[in-house]
Amino acid sequence: MANFIINTDENVYIPAEDSYLLADNLQINEGQSVLEIGTGSGIVAMYASRLTDSVTVTDINFDACRLAEENFRANGIEGIEILFGNLFEPVKNRKFDVILFNTPYLPTEEDEVLDNTINYAFDGGLNGRKVIDLFLNEVGNHLNDGGIVQLIQSSLSGNEETLEKLDSLGFIAEIAASEHFFFEDITLINAYKI
Ligand SMILES: C[S@@+](CC[C@H](N)C(=O)[O-])C[C@H]1O[C@@H](n2cnc3c(N)ncnc32)[C@H](O)[C@@H]1O
Repeated sequence: MANFIINTDENVYIPAEDSYLLADNLQINEGQSVLEIGTGSGIVAMYASRLTDSVTVTDINFDACRLAEENFRANGIEGIEILFGNLFEPVKNRKFDVILFNTPYLPTEEDEVLDNTINYAFDGGLNGRKVIDLFLNEVGNHLNDGGIVQLIQSSLSGNEETLEKLDSLGFIAEIAASEHFFFEDITLINAYKI
């Protein structure tokens, strides 16, 4: 685990086991362009910035964009592009070699929805797949040939469904790592565009 200064904000996801499952298993080569959707505090992007000079991040939560900027500055990291918006909307017509997303994967009942931007961090809708499926539908349009998608989700939100969907979209996908917690496995899925 790298030693980064991580400032936090009550409206932004605090790095947790899922963040590090992604950060510790990045498949990035020097010179590759990286897009991280949903950067939160910026933790994963900071790890990515150690591997390549070309990192772009987005978040639908403006507080997250602001906090990520603060954390990049606190760690002396320059050159990460920060864009505010929904999924790929801020990077229309752009393609990357690596796309990362620690998704909001928790199945969430209507009465569990929080009236606060932190809700974006975990709310996966009733089946946990609301954002995952929107992401999968579009990700291929933004990935260069030979590129890789790395996404984090939970067994509660359907690993098989994600693998099958990626397969139907022409990717070769696998569960690359997982960690067991009380009620779920948190999984890292790697998908290769061939
Ligand atoms: C589980 S948190 C992960 C944060 C950080 N990447 C990490 O690993 O610690 C999910 C992040 O995705 C963002 N997010 C959720 N839905 C999004 C969407 N449709 N477009 C962009 N970002 C989104 C949330 O605001 C949140 O910052």
